Amino acid sequence: MMKPRHFTSLLDLSSEELKQIITRAIELKNKRDPNYQPLKGQILAMIFEKSSTRTRISFEAGMVHFGGSALFLSPRDTQLGRGEPLQDSAKVISSMVDCIMLRTNKHETVTTFAQHSSVPVINGLTDEQHPCQLLADMQTFFEYRGDIKGKTVAWIGDGNNMCNSYIHAAMQLDFTLNIACPPGYFPQQAYIETAGKHVKLFDSAIEAAKDSALIATDVWTSMGQEDEQAIRELAFRDYQINSAIMSAAQSDALFMHCLPAHRGEEVTSEVIDGSQSVVFPEAENRLHAQKALLEFLLC
Ligand code: CP
Ligand code: NVA
Repeated sequence: MMKPRHFTSLLDLSSEELKQIITRAIELKNKRDPNYQPLKGQILAMIFEKSSTRTRISFEAGMVHFGGSALFLSPRDTQLGRGEPLQDSAKVISSMVDCIMLRTNKHETVTTFAQHSSVPVINGLTDEQHPCQLLADMQTFFEYRGDIKGKTVAWIGDGNNMCNSYIHAAMQLDFTLNIACPPGYFPQQAYIETAGKHVKLFDSAIEAAKDSALIATDVWTSMGQEDEQAIRELAFRDYQINSAIMSAAQSDALFMHCLPAHRGEEVTSEVIDGSQSVVFPEAENRLHAQKALLEFLLC
């Protein structure tokens, strides 16, 4: 049997394939043809170890648009939560559905599933990466500003799962990523090293923002880190995206945030609700980008 393609990381696809998915996402968004149902009768299993609004709804709606359906599975109500081995679960689930999407604590859960699944596996967020969000972010940039190749993007805040996927996007789509984080919160060295010249590290948020065509950030406390909230609020104090940061960037710079956001913490209301913010088209694009991804993996 042929090995299925997976999307556990942006690096699972070639740069050409990623661009093809972005172009296709824009096309699907503009056409919105209800008669186009390439996944008729197909089933996506969605395993969520953590909460979700956008990821769950966009995958479920996308499958329905394409004539298929989606199953929401929580470890609390399946044998996964009672310790059934991942290998066994991957083999069994993939024998009954056409694609599996997982949102898990550990990145290895998704890669282990991919190793043992007979159908494509999609990473819907792990502690290390959030590649589906990057498809939507890149689609949004292409829609508003055209090709991102050669541009500078600033990631300011936590060197977290979103930041790691931005590093991969910089490598794949050939832009420079300026990363500004408080000491101790930079991405893991392995991610920085593989990116080579595509990543530049900064202590100062303002310096990172200079000449950037896009400013992106995320929450200071990700899911699973709730105990660190107070200490993180202090550590990230100087890394808030406010009008001073936006003024340091290019005059037409866009602002992105994967959401959910905390106004007054990582971003001011003035910025996230202001004219440079594209956070809501960015969120909507989860639907279009993932439909393009499902079509790529399953058709
Ligand atoms: N941005 C994102 O992944 O949102 P959800 O956690 O709501 O899925
Ligand atoms: N970094 C955040 C992203 C949420 C979509 C988290 O992991 O909680």
